[in-house]
Parts: sequence; structure tokens; C-alpha cells
Amino acid sequence: MESDYTLFKLDDGPIGVFDSGYGGLTILNEIRKEMPQYDYIYLGDNARAPYGSRSFKVVYEFTVQSVEKLFKLGCPLVILGCNTASAKALRSVQRYYLPRYAPDRRVLGVIIPTAEVVGQMSRTQHIGVLATEGTISSESYNMEIVKQSPKAVVTGLACPMWVPIIENGEADKPGADYFVKDSIDKLMAMDPLIDTIILGCTHFPLLMDKIKKYVPENVKLVPQGKYIARSLQDYLRRHYEMREKITMNGTCTYYTTEQADKFQESAALFLHEDAKNLNVHHVDLRGMI
Ligand code: DGL
Repeated sequence: MESDYTLFKLDDGPIGVFDSGYGGLTILNEIRKEMPQYDYIYLGDNARAPYGSRSFKVVYEFTVQSVEKLFKLGCPLVILGCNTASAKALRSVQRYYLPRYAPDRRVLGVIIPTAEVVGQMSRTQHIGVLATEGTISSESYNMEIVKQSPKAVVTGLACPMWVPIIENGEADKPGADYFVKDSIDKLMAMDPLIDTIILGCTHFPLLMDKIKKYVPENVKLVPQGKYIARSLQDYLRRHYEMREKITMNGTCTYYTTEQADKFQESAALFLHEDAKNLNVHHVDLRGMI
């Protein structure tokens, strides 16, 4: 299928993973564990993070710029490893952008694969969602979970301080405890029957040690990485035409809108890798659309 406007024809290349910052590394990590054979490009828009409080229009524009960059770098398939972008931009990217400019390439998000599994994990069917303001106000989780599990009662809470804490390298510092405890207490007060909490922002697993400290013992935490990885694996199993386009040398290259050396240092901490093993490039996304 090719329209007059086709900019990006389907080509062989790596899987692209995009996030506003470091959060998508938690998704990339799990995807690479399941499918180490493929090549990957990670793009973090760190210089413009956080996206959480930005409008639909701005999140859409930034997301399209990032997707275009990943397409230009050769990715036939891009994962929006960012709930805020998945909630606010994915539908428009899939409905309007792709058919016009890249009809054979694909962009997938992280909300549906998470919503698909969470209903089976909850005994009470009372499910909590901690996420950014953008994701919570979009109500995407409520809609998607109830489609899968019609009896589910979903309560969401925005945690606007959590992403800045992580992006600024404060996740392990004692100051972070106050904000983590405060949000968890608020969520549990909104619905004490909650027995399962989705960490509906890819940054949040980076606060896992602190989150575990303040969540009641009987409550399960659902970080998304593992489920996104399995869902992608299943997608590639079902889509031979896409699978055969992904190159397989086991490499990973990183792009950031921040300074490359700063990203390299912080990403290495999150990935528990040696910074000098990370191949990082600076990229400017302005003027991409
Ligand atoms: N990590 C992203 C998410 O999953 C966005 C965080 C942000 O930039 O606010 O929602």
C-alpha cells in the first residue's frame, strides 16, 4: 500500500524504542532479555522531558518528531515505551500519520498490553494506576482495562513529582521517599480494596525499592516491561512480514536530545552496565515535522 505522500517505505532495520527520557530503558531492558537477537535503537527525548503535564498537541508533535527520527534511522517498527505518548499520541499516529506517510511501518504502545494482563492478576478486581498527569487524565487505562475485565474498578492517581525525581538522578535519595509514600497513601485511601497497582509510567520501576517499602503487603505491583516484551514477541510471531524486516546482530544504539555523555552516565546506572559500553549519540529533533 503506498500513498502519494509516502515518506518512509518499509525497509530492514532495528526495532525503535522511544521514551520522553530514561523510563523507556525499563521496557528496552525487558525486550532485550526476551529477544536479544534483534538490533535496537533507543531514543530518549531527555531535553524535553517530562511530557506528563504537556498538552495533547505538544505530546503528539514531540512523539511524531521522535517516530520520524527512528524511521529515518531505519526502524520498520517503533514501540512508544512511554505511557504518556501512548495515551495522548498513539491513536492519532496510527490513524492519521502512518497511513499517510509510512503505511507499511508500525508504531505500538504500552497501555493495551498492560491492560490485557492486569485483570487476571487482581482478586478483588479493584485496580490502582499510578502514572503521569497526562496518562491519568486521558483515562486510557480505565477504558482499556474495563474492555478486558468489565467488572474491574479502576482508580488512577497522577504522581507529577516522580518523573522529575528520576530524570534528575534523585531516585535513590532520601528526599524521594516523601513523594513516593504520599502518592501511595493517597491511592490506597481512594480505594482501600485495591490489591493490584499498575506502575503506569515506564519511569516508575526506577523507584521500585522505595515503592515496595510503602505499598501494603497484600498489594501486587505491576511494572510493565515484562508484559510489553511478551506482547511484542507475540506480535512478531504473528506478523512474519514485520519480523523478517528486523535486523539481527544483537546491537543497541542510543540517541538522546540531551548531551550524549550525560545520558551515557545516567543510562548506564539504570541499565547496570558500564557507561563506556553504551553507544550514545546526541540528536536534535526540532524541525522534524
Ligand atoms: N515515561 C513516560 C511514561 O511512561 C513519561 C514520563 C514523562 O515524561 O512525564 O509516561
